Amino acid sequence: MKRHNIILAIETSCDETSAAVIRDGSEILSNVVSSQIESHKRFGGVVPEIASRHHVEQITFIIEQAMREAGVSFRDLDAVAVTEGPGLVGALLIGVNAAKAIAFAHGIPLIGVHHIAGHIYANQLIKKLEYPLLALVVSGGHTELIYMEEEDDFKVIGETRDDAVGEAYDKVARTLGLPYPGGPHIDRLAQEGRETIAFPRAWLEPDSYDFSFSGLKSAVINTLHNYKQRGDEVNIADVAASFQASVIDVLVGKTKRAVEEYKVKQLLLAGGVAANRGLREALKTTFADTDVELRIPPLSLCTDNAAMIGAYAYIKWKKGEFSSYDLNGEPSLQL
Ligand code: KG4
Ligand code: ZN
Repeated sequence: MKRHNIILAIETSCDETSAAVIRDGSEILSNVVSSQIESHKRFGGVVPEIASRHHVEQITFIIEQAMREAGVSFRDLDAVAVTEGPGLVGALLIGVNAAKAIAFAHGIPLIGVHHIAGHIYANQLIKKLEYPLLALVVSGGHTELIYMEEEDDFKVIGETRDDAVGEAYDKVARTLGLPYPGGPHIDRLAQEGRETIAFPRAWLEPDSYDFSFSGLKSAVINTLHNYKQRGDEVNIADVAASFQASVIDVLVGKTKRAVEEYKVKQLLLAGGVAANRGLREALKTTFADTDVELRIPPLSLCTDNAAMIGAYAYIKWKKGEFSSYDLNGEPSLQL
């Protein structure tokens, strides 16, 4: 009799090649992540063609390593899961084809996973999720508020109308002459600076949970130009602190209103920007004396990784929701 479910999961939607082995949807047996940041740094952002090439070179080694570290063989697998979207199409295809090959060769089910569902279910690898819940997903490609009344039921109540929050961080950082990815640098500088510039807050319509960061990004760029034209010295730390204050005000403000309206038990933070110290502190303070449980997974599970894909794949496995061999990389897959 087989007691455990074992899933091999693969993630190649952007610039991380990752493979993981997950037991019963909650236990990480291995989670190997190979980052390409160094290769993209000199271009100031992810170059899709380079990302695909790296995935091709890495994928078999990363899968082998994940299997070895987990101490399982392909015969032990109940399914192979893979991010089918959203993401860079050329990058997604590498993972999707690797997963198809494994599914076919070993006669096991193939499970296509939505990347954001993965980010949310990363929390399940720490502790069981409790519904209803709200997830704030903030990364280089996403800024979304997602309401879940029950398991596997996603309702996007708010999203960005232009730049993702991580993207705004990276663009502002570039203007400040900071290396890519700029988020961590701005975060560090913001701790050293003070909010001396009143940048705008994009609240949009009063009842909207949507976000917009491009106006703020332009305001920062214009301010820097004005300083330069006047020959004034720019205090980068103060600019970083002022920018970050605007971002956090809006993110936390909208999240708080949604938590109250939807009366959720848990608030999950997900995505690479969850690393932001200012955001974490602001959320902790805001929800400290409430009944809402704030859950922020460890950093390794906030940034892109395959373990989170395996965690959500288990939900689909339980329901018998498998993909066919015509599974494709879907750059704009809807949740
Ligand atoms: O989730 P992720 O690893 O990749 C995807 O975009 O899917 O997120 C990467 C993003 C980058 O834009 C990076 O600048 C941002 O997360 N980021 C941060 C911090 N650490 C990473 N942004 C603000 N503060 C940070 N500490
Ligand atoms: Zn991501």
